[in-house]
Amino acid sequence: MKVLVTGGAGFIGSALVRHLVLARGDQVCTLDKLTYSGSLTNLKAVEHHPAHQFAQVDICDGQAVRSCINDFAPDVVMHLAAESHVDRSIDGPGEFIATNVVGTYTMLEAAREYSQQHSGFRFLHVSTDEVYGSLGRTGTFTETTPYAPNSPYSASKAGSDHLARAWHETYGLDVVITNCSNNYGPYQFPEKLIPLVTLNAINRRDIPVYGDGMQVRDWLYVEDHVLGLCQVVEKGRPGRTYNLGGENERANIDIVQTIIDAVALHTGQDVQQMQSLIKHVDDRPGHDRRYAIDISRVRQELNWQPTTDFEQGIRQTVRWYIDNQPWCEGLSEVYAGQRLGQLKQLQKGR
Ligand code: NAD
Ligand code: TYD
Repeated sequence: MKVLVTGGAGFIGSALVRHLVLARGDQVCTLDKLTYSGSLTNLKAVEHHPAHQFAQVDICDGQAVRSCINDFAPDVVMHLAAESHVDRSIDGPGEFIATNVVGTYTMLEAAREYSQQHSGFRFLHVSTDEVYGSLGRTGTFTETTPYAPNSPYSASKAGSDHLARAWHETYGLDVVITNCSNNYGPYQFPEKLIPLVTLNAINRRDIPVYGDGMQVRDWLYVEDHVLGLCQVVEKGRPGRTYNLGGENERANIDIVQTIIDAVALHTGQDVQQMQSLIKHVDDRPGHDRRYAIDISRVRQELNWQPTTDFEQGIRQTVRWYIDNQPWCEGLSEVYAGQRLGQLKQLQKGR
């Protein structure tokens, strides 16, 4: 396949690009603006590979997007480029509307134009389970759960999902959509829970837990997600949505403990000393209590399911962060571990 991956210099996108080029032998063009969360360092493994090329393009720039698509002539676009962090969306929602909504619209329009000359072309829109809102103690999200996004991030992703669906229904563009749960693994930007806790535990810094820490997320290892995306892009039914998840619900406070145990295992650091770093801090505004995913559709129709054991996945991830300190230090200029997304600060500024 010839695959154009947007957001391919980010966390999930770079795992996808490595898999497509190195494991599958696909020809890939990575299209990425290289925002704070995107880096060519994440693509070192394919830097000199003849089957990979890179284009620094903003997905909101229609002309640049069109010329990139026309020059590369892909069989599929896998669209991952996005502003991806809930806390940043609280501090500054504008970028989320621009990239996630207007950027996706721009990608869809360019794809629609291109698809008129290229039969068999397909557009995969990668999204999140957060569009479904928050669950109570029981229940799971299915593909028919009504949308009820609570954060500017999830609202902007919901908007982009609706656009992708509409471009299929109205224009007949071959679109498939995935809504996935929380990912973890190597190369995740350290503003997110798992890398943040890992680095703070290793470096003996406070570990911030929002509220009571009993919020539940479903966690999926990034490489399992990548395999799921490939199944959907190859075999998914046009216009269909597929939920992807890890069948692995955990409370945040339990995640912190699992990471501490993994750090202790790899470094010999004292568990109790690391536990004393845990600080319960003010909760996130609009914090969703629980996410859980029903993956029956993708399992039955496309034969995909997660395979990585969570404790094993966390041990691998922690090992990666220990072994890649220069990567982490390189990011400290753009993000130094500070708390993001506190309404208090916004109110003070008003
Ligand atoms: P990330 O923040 O690590 O990477 C995003 C990438 O998009 C970066 O390389 C960035 O430079 C690029 N980008 C941002 N704005 C751009 C623009 N205007 N033009 C071109 N490129 C731009 O995010 P991630 O965690 O890898 O998420 C990738 C996708 O998967 C997103 O669409 C996200 O909504 C979705 N998703 C993420 C998770 C998760 O747990 N991380 C879960 C479900 C779905
Ligand atoms: P995050 O990794 O930001 O992903 P998302 O908000 O998309 O689920 O956060 C995961 C969970 O961890 C979420 O419930 C918020 C919580 N959290 C903390 O308790 N402390 C932190 O420092 C961060 C970044 C997140």
